[in-house]
Amino acid sequence: MTAFPKAANHEVTRSLELYEQAGELIPGWTQLISRRADQFAHGVSPIYAQRAKGSRFVDVDENEYIDWMSAVGAIILGHADEVVDGAVKDQIDRGSLFSANNPLELELAEELNATIPSSEMVRYAKGGGDACAVAVRIARGVTGRDKILICGYHGWHDWYQAANYEADPESGEFPFAGIEPIGVPKALAGTVIPFVYGDLEMLAALLDEHAGEVAAIMMEPARSELPAPGYLETVQEMAAKHGVVLIFDEVSCGWRLEIGGVQEAVGVTPDMTVVAKAMSNGYPMGAVVGSRAVMEPAKRMFISSSYWSDNVGLAASVATIRELKRRNSPQRFKEIGENLRSVLDAAIADAGLEGACTGLHTSPAVTLKTPDGVDPRKVSTLFIQEMARRGVHTYMNFKPTLAHTDEDIRLTGEAAAESLRVVRDGLEQGNLDELIQADLKKEPFRRLVR
Ligand SMILES: Cc1ncc(COP(=O)(O)O)c(C=O)c1O
Repeated sequence: MTAFPKAANHEVTRSLELYEQAGELIPGWTQLISRRADQFAHGVSPIYAQRAKGSRFVDVDENEYIDWMSAVGAIILGHADEVVDGAVKDQIDRGSLFSANNPLELELAEELNATIPSSEMVRYAKGGGDACAVAVRIARGVTGRDKILICGYHGWHDWYQAANYEADPESGEFPFAGIEPIGVPKALAGTVIPFVYGDLEMLAALLDEHAGEVAAIMMEPARSELPAPGYLETVQEMAAKHGVVLIFDEVSCGWRLEIGGVQEAVGVTPDMTVVAKAMSNGYPMGAVVGSRAVMEPAKRMFISSSYWSDNVGLAASVATIRELKRRNSPQRFKEIGENLRSVLDAAIADAGLEGACTGLHTSPAVTLKTPDGVDPRKVSTLFIQEMARRGVHTYMNFKPTLAHTDEDIRLTGEAAAESLRVVRDGLEQGNLDELIQADLKKEPFRRLVR
């Protein structure tokens, strides 16, 4: 039997032991920075899980949690979704990787073409960063140019991480605090140039300064808020004027708002789009889709990898996209996200704290105004700690899935109200340090799109 944790007896001893062991076996402990213990309340938050179903998971200490992290958004229907897992098991029984090609590649391509406005041709990969690297290769190949203007996070590969050679070496503050380009060839410095979301003047100046050299503008079209009206339209016009390929990276913002992505929601169709994460509900998958004009020349480029033909991701993705459509997902996400927002707003008000639940309904966030002189990390660490002790696993922002129920939202609201009261008391009594039983949370690396 698992127990929904109660603040009084919550223990994560086994998680902590395993994490210590991981420090000896795995440099950096985990495979994704956002999974490191220092991104949560290290000492109190769960670090290792043993099973997950729907909106919940059970950690290695037998505590059950409502999961609002949703595997950094990759889980969209819910953990261990029976339809997707059924399709995957079926595929595994017929072979996970063939020597010949699988017609599913064409079936998924047709599904993507019917779903994502910019999709006329498709290439596959196994993750978001991988797919971003493919998109950049194609854009450089098509234009014969090298430089990429970027706005957002686009993965771990050299082409992108070289952007941090643009950083002020003294402060390290721009553009990506927290990402150091260690091991990235210095020869790539200057090939990737960041621009700030919403700043059209900056983008225009960069396009002029590097006229004839820019292959692509790669950007997250939205993250926590929708763009100002006309912004993406103007970016698109500028790209067209300069003969630059416009790429939307919808790895994080895709699938929830509309199944066809932010581009469907705002009505701006880029030349190319990168998708991954939620497209396959927890199975490795990624894709680059785009117009025939931009994609077709890729047949002459060296873009090739053995496991990009894997059947499991293809089967999972076809099933996930069809289920999103069948379950009327954009409407459901609106209901779930808005209900969550209202309980979180009520919890903030009930605690008498200054703040609000901000962001799109696809990723509501508890945003608190921290009094002057108080380190905001103390407030976020204490909130995450207290939520964990009440059986809710989350960052300051929440990633809904279709499996989150009204009861999950009610319990989350209760946990948030209690947790925020602890935060308020700590602020009022000036004893946050005593209340925090975890290491101070590290801020995630900074992105250009909020
Ligand atoms: C917008 C965006 N692009 C690319 C990536 C990289 O994807 P992956 O972690 O699957 O390599 C991420 C991951 O968070 C992302 O948010």
